[in-house]
Amino acid sequence: MMMDVSSERSRASRQNTRHRVRHFLADFARLDEEFPESYPKMIVRGEGAYLIDNEGNRILDAGSHLGACQIGHARKEVAQRIARQVEELEFVALDGGVSHIYAGELAERLSEIAMCDDPIFSFTNSGSEANELAIKIARQYHARRGQPDRVKIVSRNGSYHGSTLATSAATGVQSFKTGIGPLPEGFIQSAQPSPGRCGHCGTGNSCSLACLDEFTRFVKQEGPETVAAIIAEPVAIPQAVKVPHTDYFSKLRSFCDEHGILLIIDEVVCGFGRTGRMFGAEHFGVKGDIVSYAKGLTSGYVPMGAVAVSRRIEAEFEQVPLLHLNTYAAHPVACAAALAALDVLESEQLVENARNLEVVLKRELERLRQADPRVREINVIGLLSSIAIDLDKADDLDRSMRRLRKLCYDHGLLARISRDGALLGVHFYPPLNVNEEDIVSGVQALQRALRDV
Ligand SMILES: Cc1ncc(COP(=O)(O)O)c(C=O)c1O
Repeated sequence: MMMDVSSERSRASRQNTRHRVRHFLADFARLDEEFPESYPKMIVRGEGAYLIDNEGNRILDAGSHLGACQIGHARKEVAQRIARQVEELEFVALDGGVSHIYAGELAERLSEIAMCDDPIFSFTNSGSEANELAIKIARQYHARRGQPDRVKIVSRNGSYHGSTLATSAATGVQSFKTGIGPLPEGFIQSAQPSPGRCGHCGTGNSCSLACLDEFTRFVKQEGPETVAAIIAEPVAIPQAVKVPHTDYFSKLRSFCDEHGILLIIDEVVCGFGRTGRMFGAEHFGVKGDIVSYAKGLTSGYVPMGAVAVSRRIEAEFEQVPLLHLNTYAAHPVACAAALAALDVLESEQLVENARNLEVVLKRELERLRQADPRVREINVIGLLSSIAIDLDKADDLDRSMRRLRKLCYDHGLLARISRDGALLGVHFYPPLNVNEEDIVSGVQALQRALRDV
């Protein structure tokens, strides 16, 4: 029989990609065994909130962007702006007194919305690097003020701050730290708010902020005078979407001020509208001494991160600048992408859209829970949601997880599906330009997939 040339070519390109490129959270050996000739899925095009694969399937992207796709895929406005930038000035480094207008334009724009007083911005290539730099600045700040022993960075259990060594050390999920040590010293973790999971209080509104008491007790025992900074996401998402009590951050802010500890707010996943506000910190009315950003900053069109530092902290760096190099800091093409993405976010009122659709997403997930009692826990804020599923009868949960991923894909949905202890966790967080119909059909796809697991 004659081999179909195009399908043979696509098989070969899939094999080559799988063989030569490291992918994340994809166990190809198992996938090949369970779903021969199916992985990796090859995406060839984006179209708003959807991705199109090489077989022409149209899939709602409710998470394969890892939280970076705010304005939707393949927007012409951004493409044109990027192309213009490359033609005009593709790159110049911010080195030895040289600069360019796009860095200033972006920083000015961000300074108007940042939850940070009179900020100065450093630009990086990713969220990990932004947090890494935030940590360096915090330590250096105290050293310059004659407190070189203030080096500890305290974060929370169940947090994620990045993949470099220091940000892995700051991450509060053990699996990300296993087998890569020794990690940098001075990183410690304590309790974080996780209503219903923290072990202190029940579900719903019964949070008593005992998690924060535990956290501050821990810092006091460590010696606050040895702590450079506390780093926290407004809403952390490992395992589940964990929305803190409304008073959590104002109390944490006061605690930091009382003890001279800097507060680093990690907005990498919450920033730029994901939670229905421009920044996660807006839900709590809290400002950071240092704030890190990435993902939604360019909506994923070009990799870019940023660190805002309040003028009070920056004052220590005015006479002798911080020594920190990054070739691509404020890369003109990334600046252009960020400016264009911000234009779309604002002109299409996508932050408001995320806020308005929160109720739809909650309603649909509740409907799912009614239809499938194995759905145990639902957490939603803006267009960021997680669902915990109890597959009590599954004897191989990893296998069920892979099957659920595959079935969701087959039904037209890419959500992030992972193990959450003895449960399966689904993170459903579509681009912010979705409409009600997209959410309804996305959750229905999950329901249909679950039926067969
Ligand atoms: C809260 C948070 N901080 C930091 C990071 C690291 O960002 P990046 O993957 O761009 O290095 C992530 C990535 O998922 C994140 O969610």
